[in-house]
Amino acid sequence: MNSALEQTLKKFGQDQLLRFTACATGEENSNLESELEKINFPYLDKLIKDYVLKKPEISIPDDLAPAPYFPLIPETAEQKEFYDQAEKIGKNLISEGKVACLTVAGGQGTRLGYDGPKGTYPIGPVSGRSLFEYFALSIRRNEIKYNTKISWYIMTSLLNNRQTVDFFAENKYFGLDKEQIFFFVQGTMPAVDYQGKLLMSSKSSLCLSPDGHGGTLLALKKSGALDDMKSKNIKYLSYFQVDNPLVPVLSPRFIGLHALENSEMSAIMLAKNNAFEKLGNFCVSNGKLQIIEYSDLPDDLAQSVDENGKLRFIAGSPAIHVISREFIERLTADGTLSLPAHRADKKVPYIDADGNPVTPESPNAVKLETFIFDALQLASKTMVLEGDRKEVFGPTKNATGVDSAESCREMLIERDCRRLAAAGVKIPYDANGKIACKVEISPLIAVDDEDVFEYVKAKNITTIQQDSCEVLN
Ligand code: UD1
Repeated sequence: MNSALEQTLKKFGQDQLLRFTACATGEENSNLESELEKINFPYLDKLIKDYVLKKPEISIPDDLAPAPYFPLIPETAEQKEFYDQAEKIGKNLISEGKVACLTVAGGQGTRLGYDGPKGTYPIGPVSGRSLFEYFALSIRRNEIKYNTKISWYIMTSLLNNRQTVDFFAENKYFGLDKEQIFFFVQGTMPAVDYQGKLLMSSKSSLCLSPDGHGGTLLALKKSGALDDMKSKNIKYLSYFQVDNPLVPVLSPRFIGLHALENSEMSAIMLAKNNAFEKLGNFCVSNGKLQIIEYSDLPDDLAQSVDENGKLRFIAGSPAIHVISREFIERLTADGTLSLPAHRADKKVPYIDADGNPVTPESPNAVKLETFIFDALQLASKTMVLEGDRKEVFGPTKNATGVDSAESCREMLIERDCRRLAAAGVKIPYDANGKIACKVEISPLIAVDDEDVFEYVKAKNITTIQQDSCEVLN
């Protein structure tokens, strides 16, 4: 172990990490050394003091107010005209290749109880196609529609990068070119026990976990993805999470409004289903837009209503953004980015002082993460647009129940049936008024109502049979 590193560990009270070095092999020590060298100890030490040794108070500013947003349905003729103009601009930007997709897929997906990168999860209600395939085919469809090439940046983590990259190769990149997909790996943070000590997962490695999707911005810089975008003249990133197959991978109106408003970071908002729906909340304080995570908004604020009885903090975040490349360049110019840390108490398996593995039954450590939406406060200009929940948001978070694979599949079928019905196709319903078929439209043929309309006309589809189970390809 190099002596400067030893000194640093001693200085910050982390020399327990040297416990096994005397009897370890050279290779083991060099592995530990390389993990330790990536850590900024003065910064970590401050985080430990502020977020681990004391429980940080969530401070809610006194002037916190609900954030303004552009409504889903334009409210005036001028606004309608503005939206139409935005849509046109958005389409042009896509055609010119100025917009790329960015998917964050580094999370561990523990809630879903699925063993593998979440993007490989088979979500297609009939086809069983994976989340990644949904996005890939939607991107391909947009390429055909707009006669362009669309770059796709996918953030993975150390835990799932290999499997993710292999999955794409095995599936021949779902018809995309290998070169248009840029995988990049997010950073890690060490798990820290309640005494402020870093934990080890083996005698030669630390307990490391992904540093949160706030790590995306710096990882884009460090991986060369930002330079890649610049060389391709990409100006905007359409950002979405791997768990949401309903998301339009590119939304012309949203992109156009972002550009027209000179926004640096924009967001889609949805009206929350109830005061405690697990969505981040759009708020403003001191003139700045911010998202306060569902777990951090005090109950009285979450439940507060206006004079019409409507929730004041109605705007929830489906984590869909447009981000300007130049904004990310500005934030990460000096190779660092400090977003506020968020604490999560977790059960982290580790080895004890004798090297014996321990599997804790209750939380024993803190994982620190940063969140990408905290960058909204750093933007000189932001923009929020209301989205139509049933068209943009079907999260796959849990195995069953709310926000589950099951509810997501239902939403995909409902969305596709709605599009077919809008194109004049007769959809079967049961006695309770529920859709009585399983139909899935391949994203390769349709990413919007217009596509479905054309498809239905070309194939002369008039009816979907009762109880049928089919994929429209
Ligand atoms: C998230 C948002 C919440 C939003 C909701 C919408 C956070 C903290 N909160 O909640 O405001 O309303 O989605 O569905 O994100 N990820 C990484 N690397 C990481 C951690 C996460 O890439 O280190 C990715 C995951 O793969 C996933 C996404 O970020 O695509 C969301 O992560 P998750 O932990 O599932 O967030 P939620 O609590 O569901």
